[in-house]
Amino acid sequence: MNNYPAGIFDSGVGGLSVWQEIDQLLPCESIVYYADNANCPYGEKTQAEVTALSENAVRFLLSKKCKLIVIACNTATSMAIDTLRANFDLPIIGIVPAIKPAATNSKTGVIAILATTGTLQSRKFNETREKYAGQTEVILVEANDLVGIVEQGLQNTPQAEAALRRHLDPLMKRNIDHIVLGCTHFPFLIDDIRKITGNSVILENPAAAIAKRTEYILQKEKICASPNNKKQVEFYASGNIDLLQKFQLRIAKKLIN
Ligand code: DGL
Repeated sequence: MNNYPAGIFDSGVGGLSVWQEIDQLLPCESIVYYADNANCPYGEKTQAEVTALSENAVRFLLSKKCKLIVIACNTATSMAIDTLRANFDLPIIGIVPAIKPAATNSKTGVIAILATTGTLQSRKFNETREKYAGQTEVILVEANDLVGIVEQGLQNTPQAEAALRRHLDPLMKRNIDHIVLGCTHFPFLIDDIRKITGNSVILENPAAAIAKRTEYILQKEKICASPNNKKQVEFYASGNIDLLQKFQLRIAKKLIN
């Protein structure tokens, strides 16, 4: 048993889409969430920059005595997870776009991936694509601007709709049946996305699978919290914490209601 917290980080509020799944699945685990929003977005930064920022994030979480790290950011995972695992001696879980379920379950043989430039250009993403989607037509959509829409709390606004239409209208003319949400910010736009796609496509969000993976690793490493642990959840940001708190409260309210 180990009652120290699990650490989660992202460039901003996006990783809360992963946090909410972990929080629900693992009610005894304390959590420290770190949003590196002073440096957001990561999506158009170089691999060296994203790696250095991710190392800082892990050091911060280690200073809070975290026993495990979840990189709740596709960009940081794609660019930095190998270096982080080589440099830090604790379990590190990452998130990559859910290309495998989308390609495996596609009936039309055409899928789209919405992600940042950094993710889509990374070696890790392209290896995964090669491995699981060799026979599938994959349309890559660089959607860096959507990160800013979510960071500014602009969901359900005309700005969100206009930005999404630029990306999705061309896709809807193709025979796609899956859209992979390859950035943890994008699940917060699901309502806006559905207004454009209707229910005609499946939206792949790997957050629940990451929560399951976290549970598995905690058990495998024998570092689960005890069942009577008094769970604590803390949120930190390298920049302004207001939006993080607003998001977190909104999610918490939805979970309770
Ligand atoms: N949530 C991050 C991801 O999953 C956002 C990337 C960014 O900061 O540009 O990729």
